[in-house]
Amino acid sequence: MAEILGSGEALERALALLREGDVVAIPTETVYGLAGDATNGIGVARIFEAKGRPRFNPLIAHVADMAMAERLAMFDPLSRKLALAFWPGPLTLVLPQRPGNGIHPLVTAGLDTIALRMPRGFGGDLIARLGRPLAAPSANSSGRISATTAQAVAADLGARIKLVVDGGATPVGLESTILKAEGDRLRLLRPGGIAAAEIEAAIGMELLRGGIAGIEAPGMLASHYAPGAAMRLHAGTVGEGEALLGFGSQRAQGWRRAEAFLNLSETGDLREAASNLFAYMQELDRSGARTIAVEPIPFDGLGEAINDRLSRAAAPRDIHNPQHSFPP
Ligand code: TXA
Ligand code: MG
Repeated sequence: MAEILGSGEALERALALLREGDVVAIPTETVYGLAGDATNGIGVARIFEAKGRPRFNPLIAHVADMAMAERLAMFDPLSRKLALAFWPGPLTLVLPQRPGNGIHPLVTAGLDTIALRMPRGFGGDLIARLGRPLAAPSANSSGRISATTAQAVAADLGARIKLVVDGGATPVGLESTILKAEGDRLRLLRPGGIAAAEIEAAIGMELLRGGIAGIEAPGMLASHYAPGAAMRLHAGTVGEGEALLGFGSQRAQGWRRAEAFLNLSETGDLREAASNLFAYMQELDRSGARTIAVEPIPFDGLGEAINDRLSRAAAPRDIHNPQHSFPP
């Protein structure tokens, strides 16, 4: 069972776990978050695993200050104005990523945008001490409602994580409001802890509403994951001109003729495989092979999400399958 420590005494223990690539449940002003180092693929994969999240929905990267935020993303004037007005606080801004920002691609589900938020209180102190952003979805099992007390977190996730930091009941109790700049307007992607009207008053204009051109979740479109090369899944053999994405210790037949070869996890560790997935797909794509053959990957644990991503990447490129959207 997870240890529950008061926020006054938990800082060093939380830092030690995060530096080891582990996860920690922390209070924020909105809801409890399940936090991991956003630059560490294993830490980020552990978040998905602990939540039992069946799909890699992109995560919010939490920052300590504006300087850290500017290192991760490129701010337009309107977004910067809102950050200065509402941070720290329950506002998340979706912004273009700054190339080379060190964020693990699993955090952003391979998108070229990143959701940023500066939390108040313990979370902010922890990020400042760590010196790195924290990826943190709400600290609840997939499909359950967000936890607003340390006890609720422990009852739900206690068997799967080592530490819950108890900061009392979260003051906002609702997840952050998510906004994204679109030209010189802002779109409300998720209503949340700051009322839309409050934001409209601050910027002196109305927010755009509804999904992006009918697409709920850009991160779930196959085209966002699809490499230039074709993808061939559950491959038992390697054909001429193919690169091979491996898993485990058993190789597909003819693997020596692969144009390029990377193994998601030599030991068959799905968490390691998850943290390598996007980077390895990109790297094999850069090899110039016309097709990336992928060895079979089991469907249990994080394997379901890995297979989900792979089948999106292998799907026909220009068809928007409604199943590609995910629950709010
Ligand atoms: O208050 C909150 O926002 C809490 C606390 C812990 O900070 N976090 C939270 O995270 O609610 P989560 O993972 O439950 O919701 C984050 C939402 C997801 O629905 C995801 O689709 C969206 O943010 N999101 C993340 N990155 C995005 C991106 N680049 N573009 C569009 N949406 C994004
Ligand atoms: Mg959530």
